[in-house]
Amino acid sequence: MTIRPIVKLPDPVLKQVSQPVERVDDELHALVGDMFQTMYDAPGIGLAAVQVGIPRRLLVIDLAKEDQPKDPMAFINPEIVWSSDDLSTYEEGCLSIPDVFDNVERPAEVKVKYVDESGKQQEMHCTGLMATCIQHEIDHLNGILFIDHLSRLKRSMVVRKFTKLARQQRETA
Ligand code: NI
Repeated sequence: MTIRPIVKLPDPVLKQVSQPVERVDDELHALVGDMFQTMYDAPGIGLAAVQVGIPRRLLVIDLAKEDQPKDPMAFINPEIVWSSDDLSTYEEGCLSIPDVFDNVERPAEVKVKYVDESGKQQEMHCTGLMATCIQHEIDHLNGILFIDHLSRLKRSMVVRKFTKLARQQRETA
């Protein structure tokens, strides 16, 4: 397993709509392994394939706390098939937008259809942090970042900061 570089804002790949995964094969399993490794190393609780530069509909999540055993979950071609009218607010962050955190309001519960690592069709009712996390990650598959849920002013401030940072890094490289 390899730790892959995480794509950061304002890389345009983050705006791409990811394409469906066609086969659950060894290559996909290797990518899933790398994604877990990359996410644990960061550390983070969720990672979409597009965040390692591969625009495929695949994401990994592990919500286990540091003192709990790992609970790795991979979601292939995930799709929200139901959302609650009730909303909840969490302070979100993103490995592609380091050190930025803000409150995002989303449906409190969702039902998600997906294919698991063995290629089986599954359905999961998600509540609490899981509901927020999976909606954040599925947004990535559609080229949407959590800052797209903030006000235009806040979003443009974040984009400007990261654009400047990327320019400085290019100049010193
Ligand atoms: Ni994210």
